[in-house]
Amino acid sequence: MSKNSSRPVGRHFLQIPGPTQLPDRVLRAMDTPIIDHRGPEFAKLAKRCLEGIKTIFKTTNPVIIYTATGTGAWEAALVNTLSPGDRVLMVETGQFATLWKVMAEKLGLKPEFIKTDWRTGADPAAIEQHLRADKNKEIKAVCVLHNETSTGCLSPVAEIRKAIDAAGHPALLFVDTISSLASTDYRHDEWGVDVTVGGAQKGLMLPPGMSFNAVSDKALTTAKGAKLTKSFWGWDDMLNMNKIGFFPYTPATQMLHGLAEGIAMLHEEGLDNVFARHDRLAEATRRAVRTWGLEVMCRDAKYYSPTVTAVMLPEGHDADAFRNLALENFNISYGASFGRYAGKYFRIGHLGDINDGTLIGALGTTEMALALAGIPHKKGGTQAAVDYLISAHAGPARAAAE
Ligand SMILES: Cc1ncc(COP(=O)(O)O)c(C=O)c1O
Repeated sequence: MSKNSSRPVGRHFLQIPGPTQLPDRVLRAMDTPIIDHRGPEFAKLAKRCLEGIKTIFKTTNPVIIYTATGTGAWEAALVNTLSPGDRVLMVETGQFATLWKVMAEKLGLKPEFIKTDWRTGADPAAIEQHLRADKNKEIKAVCVLHNETSTGCLSPVAEIRKAIDAAGHPALLFVDTISSLASTDYRHDEWGVDVTVGGAQKGLMLPPGMSFNAVSDKALTTAKGAKLTKSFWGWDDMLNMNKIGFFPYTPATQMLHGLAEGIAMLHEEGLDNVFARHDRLAEATRRAVRTWGLEVMCRDAKYYSPTVTAVMLPEGHDADAFRNLALENFNISYGASFGRYAGKYFRIGHLGDINDGTLIGALGTTEMALALAGIPHKKGGTQAAVDYLISAHAGPARAAAE
């Protein structure tokens, strides 16, 4: 928006790492009359969603759909499986891992927190070591974020499963996929995850307000003995009602219309193509950042996030002031920074319904904003991203060679 005008012109560049832009198809699917949530039309819609969502988590087990943001699905994972005083192992990958840990404490659990400097993902070896030290096998669950949205670091879930098994430990594995699901390869069943937490407002391209628990047989069995207090979050009532296509309470009908459409869109594109698109856009973003001479917050390539890139600003430059300037002058929003790094970085989200052209627009805008803000950087980051995207489209072999 121009500083002299109150009307933002053109489409806003929503480069936060979710909620993401709603595709017109999803909006149109939701723009439909309310139906009776105890009627046959609803049951058909619900069954379509309940079956469809399994293909996104890659599970044949039930997926519970909550009318709640991701935080609710975090709570559901914990209260359905654990009892007061249970020990849980968590990894401090960043702000969202910290919030989940604080929730565990509030619920009366005893989280043990493996520290990181917030610039890597969860290290399977550190998890294995911690579990091996738990000689009496008292730790009941290992909780990790697949993608730590606050820092742009992805954790290797399959390797974490292997680490738990290598330690011979019976702990359940809980994984938060709120900012990776439907953008990054994820396999609930194959990777032996017990509860996967998901959210609607990122890769699934829906508004905020819906979240998920994908569950394993072991999680369902454990739930029978779990003593934490629960009512709304209880899996039992949900699973019973879902069997006949209904919910125990009024479901978010319009969101379900949107969900069915979002799932259809993902399969039309092909999940592997969705993942390749996110990988490509992430690599293009990192090339832009490096060409600018700025630092990607994630300091180890093996943990790079396909959905969000956090960009460190040079000492003495305030990232919040930069975000404000960019919004005011160029109508673009970035993700904020947190905790010990507050004001030190901004985050470029590149997930959901986004293509190469949108990303290049966002990177070009970022390059303008860096210049206007007087942040020391080299020119040419956007060009580096353009060059990479051309080579990626010309063929993987050429991209690798460059
Ligand atoms: C990885 C992760 N976990 C949990 C949350 C919390 O989800 P919500 O804000 O939908 O409650 C978020 C939100 O962005 C997130 O990115």
